[in-house]
Amino acid sequence: AGEQLRYDGQTVVVTGAGGGLGKAYAVFFASRGANVVVNDLGGSGKGEGASSNMADQVVKEITQAGGKAVANYDDVTNGEAVIKTAIDSFGRIDVLINNAGILRDVSFKNMKDQDWDLIMKVHVIGSFKCARAAWPHFRKQKYGRVINTSSAAGLFGSFGQCNYSAAKLALVGFTETLAKEGLKYNILCNAIAPIAASRMTATVMPPEVLELLKPEFVVPVVANLVHSSNEDETGGIFEIGGGHVAKMRWERAKGALLRADDSFTPGALLNKWDDVSDFSKPEHPTGVANFMELLEEAQKLPPNPEAEKIDFNGKVVLI
Ligand code: NAI
Repeated sequence: AGEQLRYDGQTVVVTGAGGGLGKAYAVFFASRGANVVVNDLGGSGKGEGASSNMADQVVKEITQAGGKAVANYDDVTNGEAVIKTAIDSFGRIDVLINNAGILRDVSFKNMKDQDWDLIMKVHVIGSFKCARAAWPHFRKQKYGRVINTSSAAGLFGSFGQCNYSAAKLALVGFTETLAKEGLKYNILCNAIAPIAASRMTATVMPPEVLELLKPEFVVPVVANLVHSSNEDETGGIFEIGGGHVAKMRWERAKGALLRADDSFTPGALLNKWDDVSDFSKPEHPTGVANFMELLEEAQKLPPNPEAEKIDFNGKVVLI
């Protein structure tokens, strides 16, 4: 038998750890030797109210099982206070799991400022504030691991969740930039798009499906990503749930290249539209297209052929 992944001597901060996925992370890391900060505001799933009960309950479970954990009841938008609890209680922070979240689902037509703002606050500002407060510690010790919690809703859109979708994809960009800025300091940062049974999903999936989607089935991925043995997996997006674990990435089509002069008309582009979306030989980029090379190539092209009328998706379009 191999050795267990352990986190002895490390401090793991889990936001929104009073229930659902956050609790599963907190219980796991404590069981593997970590000091855990169990942050939870203890409000409703829509972000109303607050209470210390949820965090306290999880801390109690962990300590009764012989683990080390402290509660923190701050709103994640007060990231300084969340991280301060780790430093005051355990003298360090090694891992930050930005997990706290709420939903305020409503169709775009009926979305109020408050529904939009509160979602941005908890997910985006909360993750930013906690990560920023942890960052100087990570840099100083040349070690840090961050997980940000995205969602399929962010990657693909989701009916009635334009606020949540926007916030969740924001966290992907946030993750990708932190991965770049953190690399030199051995700070690795990944995003996950989980699916799991929790109070958040309790009403949207039937019980027999929820039974197969235990939050514990998301834990092994996070456990590996934040472990010190992970030395290079950073800036990734992982889709996880019910035993499924898959990395996601960007794909770039072949693309069209046109001479960029007066002959670059809408019609000239329509002539090449098939190339724009030709995914038969895709690239999987980790950065923007090589524009210096493309500019040079574009200069060598002859003027674009004129097009006066063109058949675009079966319609005659005037150029
Ligand atoms: P959950 O509702 O059980 O857990 C979220 C926790 O965050 C709650 O305990 C809540 O009290 C806490 N929280 C909310 N606002 C807070 C704030 N301002 N400060 C501190 N704590 C706060 O839901 P679940 O499912 O465990 O969600 C965890 C994360 O995973 C969320 O970010 C959610 O958006 C994300 N997610 C979950 C999916 C699922 O299938 N369960 C799908 C995709 C993403």
